[in-house]
Amino acid sequence: MKFGIISVSDRCFRGEREDQSGPAIMQCVHALSESSEYRLVPDEKQMISAALTELADREQCDVIFTTGGTGFAPRDVTPEATKAVIEKETPGISEAIRMKSLAITSRAMLSRAVSGIRGKTLIINLPGSPKAVKESIEVVLPVLPHAVETLGGNTQSCGGDYGK
Ligand code: MTE
Repeated sequence: MKFGIISVSDRCFRGEREDQSGPAIMQCVHALSESSEYRLVPDEKQMISAALTELADREQCDVIFTTGGTGFAPRDVTPEATKAVIEKETPGISEAIRMKSLAITSRAMLSRAVSGIRGKTLIINLPGSPKAVKESIEVVLPVLPHAVETLGGNTQSCGGDYGK
């Protein structure tokens, strides 16, 4: 699987803080990853959308994770930038992440993260902290191989198998 990782943070983009969440994602997907692309962008809707389309359309990533910019702060626009480029929403993924995360912290309800499909690429927003990244990503990792296979047009493995 080819992964795209987009860290969204004004402070990391300006070099005022080291990005720990992008590397945390990379570590989590290591076992499933054949290759990966990494981008660091500020909390600017156009730049986030541009990074998403580049990694989906040109780099042909199977799955793109964003981290950060999903909260209530005035400059948090990652969900809006994502909604601008996806063709189909995949609410079950974001619902599952929030449901599992709520068992850990009630602040999970403060993430407005969304997910969806652009072409053959699955895009998933994750919250910004490395802790939240790890807690969220472990919810979706088990379904990624099947999700990517289905996106690629192979629906055979769906037949009657509603396994975990
Ligand atoms: N989800 C998990 N699993 N663990 C967390 O610690 N933090 C929450 C939430 N989701 C958190 C979480 C908090 S405090 C916020 S403000 C929102 O994600 C949005 O984070 P973001 O603005 O960094 O994207």
